Amino acid sequence: MTQQNTKTLTIIQPDDFHLHLRDGKVLQSTVTQAARQFRRAIIMPNLKPPITTTKHATEYRKRILAQLPSNTDFQPLMTLYLTDNTPPEEIVRAKESGIVHGIKLYPAGATTNSDAGVTSLSNCIKTLDEMQKQGIPLLMHGEVTDPDVDIFDREAVFIDKVLIPLRKMLPDLKVVFEHITTKAAAEYVTDAEGFIGATVTPQHLLFNRNHLLVGGIHPHYYCLPILKREENRQALLKAVTQNNRRFFAGTDSAPHAKGAKENACGCAGCYSASHAIELYATVFEQQNALEHLEWFTAINGPKFYNLAVNRTTITLEKRDWQIPESLPFGSDKVIPLMAGENLTWKLV
Ligand code: DOR
Ligand code: ZN
Repeated sequence: MTQQNTKTLTIIQPDDFHLHLRDGKVLQSTVTQAARQFRRAIIMPNLKPPITTTKHATEYRKRILAQLPSNTDFQPLMTLYLTDNTPPEEIVRAKESGIVHGIKLYPAGATTNSDAGVTSLSNCIKTLDEMQKQGIPLLMHGEVTDPDVDIFDREAVFIDKVLIPLRKMLPDLKVVFEHITTKAAAEYVTDAEGFIGATVTPQHLLFNRNHLLVGGIHPHYYCLPILKREENRQALLKAVTQNNRRFFAGTDSAPHAKGAKENACGCAGCYSASHAIELYATVFEQQNALEHLEWFTAINGPKFYNLAVNRTTITLEKRDWQIPESLPFGSDKVIPLMAGENLTWKLV
C-alpha cells in the first residue's frame, strides 16, 4: 500500500517491463543504474546480432548478472527476438528455460536493430500458435513500417492492420502493446477483450511532439514511436490514472552514446533508467494521482506476467534535485532524459 505524507512516499519496489541494457562495455553502467531503481526488468533483445534463441538469452543473462553490484538482487527477465524463421520448438525451449518471459515483435525496419525483425506475421503463425499454447506473451513494437504511412500514424494503423486481425486469429495469445503513444492505442487496450496489456514510458506521459521539434530539433527527445500530439498524451495520462490494471510501467530506456544522438542521423531512444521512478512520480503528482503510482509501477505488470509482486519497498523523498547533464556509458557518455532539469521527487 502506498504510504504518503507531504515529505515521503513509500511504495512496493517497481519493475520495468521494457528496458534496453545493451551489451559489452556499457553493461556495467546500464545495469548498475537500472538496478538502483528496479527489482526486475524485461530486457529487450535488439542487440547486434539480436537475441533470437534461448541459448543466447541464457548467455546474455549471465553477462548482465556478472555486472550486478553485490548489494542488489536485480533480476533480468529475458526476451527473444522474433524473426520470420523462429521455429515453434524455440518457444518450447524458452518456456522450459524459465528465464524467458516474452517474445518481442519488431516489424522489420521499425526501429533500432530491427532489420532482422518480422517481415510479415503470416510467416510466424505456427510459432505464435505455440506461444499461445505455452502462455508466453508477445511483446509488440506496434508500428507499421510501410513507407506510405506517415510516421505519426504508424501506431494507429498497426492496430487496424496487424493487431486486430492477429488477435482475431489467436484470441488467447497474451499480448503486450509496448510503449503506447496514442489515444487510439490507449482506447483499444482499455476496451479490447481478452488478455492484453500495455506499457507506457515516462517520455510519452511527460512530453508531446512540440518538445521534440519547437525551437530546433531536440535529439534527446527523439524515440520511437515518436512523441505525438498533446491530445494523445492526455489520453495516456487518463489511461494510467484510471486504476485500469492493463497499463503498467515500461520505460523503454534506450541509451545511445551522446554522439550517436547529436548527429545528422541521430538514433532513436531516450535514456531514463537512472531516474525513471522519479519521472513517473512527477507525472502522477501532476495528475493528482499519486495513489495510482504503485499500481502502475509495481503491481499491474507482475500480475500480467504472472510474477509475484515484490516484497521490498522504496521510498521517494520530496526534495529538489538536478538530473545530471550526462552519465557514464562505458567509455562514452549518455545524456539522460531531461538532463540538467530539476525534479522534486528523489529516490532515497
Ligand atoms: O526509441 C527507441 N529506441 N525505440 C525503440 O523501439 C528501440 C530503442 C532502441 O533500442 O534504441
Ligand atoms: Zn524499446
